[in-house]
Amino acid sequence: MYAFDKKDQYTFSFSSPDQLRLYLSRQGYNIPFTKDISPLAAKPTVRTQGGGTVTLKNALATHPMEGCDAETDGSPSALTRRRYDRFSGSGAALVWMEALSVVPEARTSDHQMMLCDKTADAFKSLVADIKKNDVFVVAQLTHSGRFAKNSDTPHPLFATRSAPFERRRPTDRDVPVLTDDYLDALPEKFAKAAKIAEDAGFDAIDVKACHQYLLDELLSAHTRSGKYGGCFENRSRLMIDVFDAVRSVLRPETVLASRLSFSDMIEYPYGFGVTPCEPTEPDLTETKQLLKILTDKGLSLVDMTMGSPYFNPHVNRPYNRGSYTPPEHPLKGLERLIGGTREIIASFPSLTVIGTGYSYLREFAPYVAAGALKTGAASMVGFGRMAFAYDTFATDMIEGRMDPSKVCIACSKCAEIKRLSGHTGCPIRDQEIYLPIYRELCMNQ
Ligand SMILES: Cc1cc2nc3c(=O)[nH]c(=O)nc-3n(C[C@H](O)[C@H](O)[C@H](O)COP(=O)(O)O)c2cc1C
Repeated sequence: MYAFDKKDQYTFSFSSPDQLRLYLSRQGYNIPFTKDISPLAAKPTVRTQGGGTVTLKNALATHPMEGCDAETDGSPSALTRRRYDRFSGSGAALVWMEALSVVPEARTSDHQMMLCDKTADAFKSLVADIKKNDVFVVAQLTHSGRFAKNSDTPHPLFATRSAPFERRRPTDRDVPVLTDDYLDALPEKFAKAAKIAEDAGFDAIDVKACHQYLLDELLSAHTRSGKYGGCFENRSRLMIDVFDAVRSVLRPETVLASRLSFSDMIEYPYGFGVTPCEPTEPDLTETKQLLKILTDKGLSLVDMTMGSPYFNPHVNRPYNRGSYTPPEHPLKGLERLIGGTREIIASFPSLTVIGTGYSYLREFAPYVAAGALKTGAASMVGFGRMAFAYDTFATDMIEGRMDPSKVCIACSKCAEIKRLSGHTGCPIRDQEIYLPIYRELCMNQ
């Protein structure tokens, strides 16, 4: 059913929902599938930190997708606003805004958005526009740690040494790790950014701990010495301190959220959610330990993810074409993501957990998304690359009229632009804006 093309990548060759369903069952994938798409229109609820309940208009979301198109002061540009017009007009009930830096030294590029006093009014206006489409908006607070750049050249801020990353960029070995004093100061900075975001009108605040950005990197800091490394209590210390600091400044109506890597799938002792026994396979024991602590403190909304786009992108976002041929079929990756979400929902039934990785499925995504919602393998389903590609994807999914000529084809071109810190979007389906950018930046490489 799939084959290698000329470039040794997987070809998506399903031409009907039944063909996909048959393939899933013949190959024994534990990927739910139903032609009854009514669960997409269900109205999930999310708990506020004060114990209230917010009801969302449907079960679809847009994932956070960094666009590298902000003004240099960190405020949204006209292009950023265009992206959020599309995301909020997609029909999805929830828009999870991309990574917003909480400090200037830890941006992924000069064009990453940043929450600070100077940008507060610009965020107010952006969120007000998004909300005209009756969507719930989440602010993703981040410190980009090892992926920070200064004027678009790497300026890594490491919390711990990482042999797998240092094998790829040996010069990293010469950069010292961040001190405890530097880390001690961060909870207050996250809290300040959280307050700015809440005042700007965001409904939820995400303390981001994924993809090996700083807070996730610390969760995997087995080899760091001192109070932020080694045992689970030390490795999770900053995440919990940041969470507490953020929570302490928020109003009861605001929702506490996290984009959390359930497993980095990076070899032990350099990844979170892996163990010495299964050094590269997900083990959610510590993930559950962390979620127990955070849910007791009021966490109620999680956008799940696994892997790192900088290390194992095929885990993070199953693709047809990317920078290397994945060691597994993309459906295997999707099965892993769905399985992780299912396991966490079973352990934390009151959490609202958004499932990830579905863009790979093109126009057949609604059947698997509905299957996941129906069988407890997701509370909501999010779309990242699909949201770049297809401006009305959620409405069309719910109404059962996906247009195959508008879907994401998982070609990784958006990720290629992002890697080079260019203004990011879909050069295939949103050509007028992004094809010239792709041509200039990526085809001259
Ligand atoms: C270009 C690009 C930018 C992304 N930016 C972010 C981000 O800012 N924050 C985040 O948590 N994930 C980010 N992601 C990951 C997506 O949110 C999502 O997890 C991933 O694309 C898989 O979902 P999908 O199959 O629907 O695309 C990004 C992915 C891509 C391709």
